[in-house]
Amino acid sequence: MDYAVSSKAPALLKADCLVVALNKGATDLPDTLPDATRKLISACVKSGDFAGKKQQTLLLQQPPELSATRLLLVGTGAEGALGVQAFLQLAATVAKGVAATGARSAAWLLDNIAVKEHDTAWIVREGSRGVADNTYRYDTYRSDKSGAPALKRFTFLTSAPAADAKQALAEGTAIAAGMALAKDLGNRPPNDCHPDYLVTVAKALADEYPALKLKTISEKQAEKLGMGAFCSVARGSERDGQIMIFEYQGAKGAPVALVGKGITFDTGGISLKPGASMDEMKYDMCGAASVFGTVKAVCELQLPIHLVAVVVAAENMPDGRASRPGDIVRTLSGQTVEILNTDAEGRLVLCDALTYVQQKYKPSAVVDIATLTGACVVALGAHAQAVYANDAELAEELLLAGEDCGDRGWPMPLWDDYQEQLDSPFADMANIGGPKAGSITAACFLSRFTKDVSWAHLDIAGTAWVSGGKLKGATGRPVPMLTRYLMHKAGSGDD
Ligand code: BES
Ligand code: MN
Ligand code: ZN
Repeated sequence: MDYAVSSKAPALLKADCLVVALNKGATDLPDTLPDATRKLISACVKSGDFAGKKQQTLLLQQPPELSATRLLLVGTGAEGALGVQAFLQLAATVAKGVAATGARSAAWLLDNIAVKEHDTAWIVREGSRGVADNTYRYDTYRSDKSGAPALKRFTFLTSAPAADAKQALAEGTAIAAGMALAKDLGNRPPNDCHPDYLVTVAKALADEYPALKLKTISEKQAEKLGMGAFCSVARGSERDGQIMIFEYQGAKGAPVALVGKGITFDTGGISLKPGASMDEMKYDMCGAASVFGTVKAVCELQLPIHLVAVVVAAENMPDGRASRPGDIVRTLSGQTVEILNTDAEGRLVLCDALTYVQQKYKPSAVVDIATLTGACVVALGAHAQAVYANDAELAEELLLAGEDCGDRGWPMPLWDDYQEQLDSPFADMANIGGPKAGSITAACFLSRFTKDVSWAHLDIAGTAWVSGGKLKGATGRPVPMLTRYLMHKAGSGDD
């Protein structure tokens, strides 16, 4: 799909569908619309066909005095300026409304929309990201692809200065492209999405963007390096574990590091998970997927930052060589871990990757992203990712970045009080902390491997995919939060 910005008058824009969003009661008809069009809309309001309610749409054919062949009215449901979440909801309704028409080209008038605390560049960026996000489909494995959208071109109509609008569109579509990559990886079935496949994708990405360097560490090499925790998980599968390290040097100085959990399927291992919904554990590599997606967005935008991005990939299977509850392993950091539950594997693969990235790259900040605990889903549901950090400033940067684009996080405690839940009678620590505060004790475990660096951990177990039913699918989160965070680091993200 092609996205564009234009400052043309809405009446002059040739498209199969012109979209106009209207407030509650449709009292604020944009004066850039021709009189005859405004009259027609007023008539629709008077007759009760359209009231500007949230998610309400009305499609009109052959609107008078417009070059577009259809006019799609969409309600905002608000009296005045919209909040961030309401605007993103509107963009979703617009995208779905247009897709339902079969239009091949569409344009959305943005000038009559106001979003609290944000300018028109923000509206173009998040509007384009929102539209692109909501036109995503995953049909790689479907024989019948006839449901594919007809839409080929989408134009955002704005009177914002052309250079600003273009830059905002480039940002929105780059983040959306990163989200689409993360969704593709997440949705891919686990028989075809395994650590070696992720290496193939990593190589393709490094080929696509010359600024990107890639290094891989095989399971064998990891063993030699002393990554006993990572290997104890990877060993339980026929498929080899893999670690991928991207380096993107768009600036000098110490890098920011991202580390993504890439368990391509989590059976639980010998501590086997129950069968219901186990298919969803193909999404246990969504932290890794978000790292791929963020790397893609950063490369597209050529951000002036130094970034190191690590994907730690393994399959958690109950093989003959799999870990047993009671096994003790030595991590790369030298600390020993008693594995009391083989289903708490994410922290085991992450701890070695966290140690490695600190030893090798001396980063100024490290952020790990992981579908780490079911407890996080209980605590925060599907709306916010849990944000843990040993540095209040880093936590704030991530929270603000998420707030800015509606990809929200919520702060969680990392108090020492919780640490003793990880005590083991035989090793330096256990890999589980008992039934209470499961997301927090998982974060506490990771904190023991990140003492000397500014570090944050995002538990995305609730936000990375939509569970169950027809709507099941990866969300591409937290690519927007991470990319906005890095844009701010690059000094290019201020609205
Ligand atoms: N990948 C899971 C976490 C998960 C479970 C995410 C369900 C989303 C939905 C992780 O590896 C896991 O199994 N965690 C265990 C930890 C427990 C054994 C301490 C969990 O949350 O049950
Ligand atoms: Mn698990
Ligand atoms: Zn897992």
